[in-house]
Amino acid sequence: MKTIESVTGIRSALEETAGPAGRRTLVPTMGALHRGHMELIKRARQHAGPGGTVIVSIFVNPIQFDHKSDLDQYPRPVEADLEKCMAAGVDVVFMPRADEIYHPDRSVTVSETSLSRSLCGATRPGHFDGVCTVVLKLFLLTGCHAAVFGEKDYQQLAIIRRMVRDLDVPVEILACPTVRESDGLAMSSRNVRLHARQRADAPRIHRALCEAAKLARVPEILAAARAGIEGSDMARIDYLSLVDAETLQPAESLVHPAILATAVFYGEVRLIDHVRLG
Ligand code: PAJ
Repeated sequence: MKTIESVTGIRSALEETAGPAGRRTLVPTMGALHRGHMELIKRARQHAGPGGTVIVSIFVNPIQFDHKSDLDQYPRPVEADLEKCMAAGVDVVFMPRADEIYHPDRSVTVSETSLSRSLCGATRPGHFDGVCTVVLKLFLLTGCHAAVFGEKDYQQLAIIRRMVRDLDVPVEILACPTVRESDGLAMSSRNVRLHARQRADAPRIHRALCEAAKLARVPEILAAARAGIEGSDMARIDYLSLVDAETLQPAESLVHPAILATAVFYGEVRLIDHVRLG
């Protein structure tokens, strides 16, 4: 396994590692790797095949954070991440420095103007421009043929697919289902920042979404999900929304398929989750 820390190093490293028929498959991450990420890496390994190259990028992308404290406190267990990548058969780990990825006077970004208006995009302005910009840069820097993303970040996945479609980016997008802890909490690098009481309470998010999804009418669904989450004095809802699974626009009546999605704060830690209806 090669570890590349420079932008200039990545291209030459990949020229050496790519076999002639090798498919180059990228898993973009911000590190603090957990079982969710490892499923993506497994999928990448299968897709690339034995002659292909699996690249994992680890880059805590400053331009997609809206609060400096969240960026500063984002976990960065580099040694443990490298060990996990090695054990999973990753060929190349790309961990560039932020000052190499972003020029001080940079003035071009990728902006998505429809799907990013709702859900996380509504409460985190600029977040998805930051995601699209870094993901496109990672695609270009690695020359990958395919890239794997998690359904956990449903809106992110939809926006990346839209970017690839609209800009004719020659990268196949593969998706993996959400990996959960045994109590239902969606795995996230941010879970380690929860205090013990918050961690014990947080599975209520998924439980509330699943219970609400059994109901028939939109107002009942939203009210039940809200009540289930707000039954805890530790949980504060950032947003809770039922949207069309394709357009991500709020659903006024029950359309299928639909996504019931939420972001919930425990203290400063923001967790997202969703369930699919229909
Ligand atoms: P990060 O949060 O590290 O997630 C990296 C990838 O892992 C994403 O595609 C995400 O959807 C997936 N993932 C995270 N938790 C998961 C889970 N519990 N089950 C399945 N997949 C999961 O998402 C980002 O980083 C960044 O926005 C990035 C795309 C790297 C751009 O900076």
